Amino acid sequence: MTPRTPNDVRAFYDAHRTVRQYQTAENGEPLPLPAEHLDVILHAAQRAPTDATAQLYSLIHLRDPQVRAQVAALTTNAHITTASEAFVVCADVRRTRRVLEVSGRAPGHWPAVAVHFGIGDAVMAGTNLLTAAEMLGYQGCWIGGVLNGLDGIVDLLRLPPGVLPFAALTIGIPAEAAPYRPRVPRPLVVHTDAYRDGSDEDLREATTVMNPIAARGDQPGDWARLLGAYFAAGGGMEKREPQLVAVLRRQGLWAGEAQGASSEAEVLARPGR
Ligand SMILES: Cc1cc2nc3c(=O)[nH]c(=O)nc-3n(C[C@H](O)[C@H](O)[C@H](O)COP(=O)(O)O)c2cc1C
Repeated sequence: MTPRTPNDVRAFYDAHRTVRQYQTAENGEPLPLPAEHLDVILHAAQRAPTDATAQLYSLIHLRDPQVRAQVAALTTNAHITTASEAFVVCADVRRTRRVLEVSGRAPGHWPAVAVHFGIGDAVMAGTNLLTAAEMLGYQGCWIGGVLNGLDGIVDLLRLPPGVLPFAALTIGIPAEAAPYRPRVPRPLVVHTDAYRDGSDEDLREATTVMNPIAARGDQPGDWARLLGAYFAAGGGMEKREPQLVAVLRRQGLWAGEAQGASSEAEVLARPGR
């Protein structure tokens, strides 16, 4: 393959935009990707490198409009209904365990490793899929909103133990001019030889660089405020945490100290029982 120039590569990645509004048919229904395009983005997903050869992920391709509508509601991301293609990208250690069982081997116990490499493999496959779609002229959107309705998604998609949704991923032809969104300055992200904490001033400067990502209409952006809504005490991530822990337990992927708390005696001993 002819090598691309650095300028080509920069231009390709600078063309990336998260896009949430997609072209649809006149009646508002999704315009599916041509079969050849769908095939090649799925091929790209499966060409992702993978830990220990295992491919610890599965993609749930959302095709039934009713399933799409329910995932859109559970994730609170309506554009799942209008995207050309939509997927739920999952960590999946079930298939590997089954390969072992089918070959007469007893699977080991490694729930923390399952989450570590399962999420890694899922992200690599999903990133390949999105990048391939962008090469074809589409744009897309990762949807961490799966954490807003995780238990319901596990039920709806009938995800067995060992399978954990990481995020949804939509692909389509843009119907909005999404802005170029900034990134944290490189010295705070790329460390040389050892980790280096940025100074308070570095972090204030980074916040100024990032502020436009939080702008809405005429409202100027305040990135720290946006981060606060997600990550500060009382923010959205704290609300998601117990649901994620519950689903990790449900899917047999919880490796925390409190695993024993799932034992019948401890569950029964909880206040309110
Ligand atoms: C793991 C992950 C989860 C995300 N979750 C959502 C989401 O639930 N809803 C949404 O509209 N955008 C979501 N996004 C898109 C981000 O908001 C977007 O990537 C970020 O603002 C940077 O913008 P850019 O991709 O256009 O550069 C998510 C992105 C990632 C990587």
